[in-house]
Amino acid sequence: MSRPDDSSVGKSDMNSVAKPIIKILTLFPDMVRTVLETSIPGRAERQGQVGYEVVDIRDFAVDKHRTVDDTAYGGGAGMIMMAQPIVEAVESVRESDDATVILTTPQGETFSEALTLELLADLQDKGEIILICGHYKGIDERARELVVNREVSIGDYVLTGGELPALVIADALIRRIDGVLHNQDSAGNDSFTESRGGGLDCQWYTKPPEFRGLTVPDVLLSGHHGNIEKWRREQAADRTRSRRPDLADPDPKDAEDR
Ligand code: ADE
Repeated sequence: MSRPDDSSVGKSDMNSVAKPIIKILTLFPDMVRTVLETSIPGRAERQGQVGYEVVDIRDFAVDKHRTVDDTAYGGGAGMIMMAQPIVEAVESVRESDDATVILTTPQGETFSEALTLELLADLQDKGEIILICGHYKGIDERARELVVNREVSIGDYVLTGGELPALVIADALIRRIDGVLHNQDSAGNDSFTESRGGGLDCQWYTKPPEFRGLTVPDVLLSGHHGNIEKWRREQAADRTRSRRPDLADPDPKDAEDR
């Protein structure tokens, strides 16, 4: 089945080098497009570093009411997204049967920076990644069986739909694409990165040096880069130990060696 319309965000091929395409299947395409057009995801798309395709699942409904959901067999509260519009939307958008097709669902594996890197490698390898935004009570199990090969949750809470989770995943991927973040966006020592030992980032300050009686630590004004780096490493390690002991190095010696 052909796609009813070309719903890619923007048209900004700066060059002909194949760029990775993130494809999002949703019942709320405007919501998804708005986010992808904004800030760093928008800039990345305009600079030709990534492409987006936003597909309205409702365009694949076959009745005049554009129905995409129905009640559950066996009864129970909540509507279930029908298999047919989802399966045909995926088939229309994927370049290869091999494409990774992710369903956002609270029942999926928990999203993390490690999973971001895994999905990024997959996106760069295959040139596409497909995210299906789940809705209502869930999707017909047969759609899962036929086209979904990965399920991802962004945490142990339930949202009204899969758009925000899909956008969270897309954003985490986009900022990891080479060249997307500029120096001023600074990512090298973010929380969970290798340079932070997988732990949390430290605290940061900007002008003025005093605000409502609160001052900036002297070391940051000292101009001594070695001391500043050491202080930041220590602060980051302290934060990690107190806020996220699960991420802290069991042996502080390892952290020093690193
Ligand atoms: N849909 C609803 N809640 C969700 C969650 N926590 N993660 C992924 N998809 C969801």
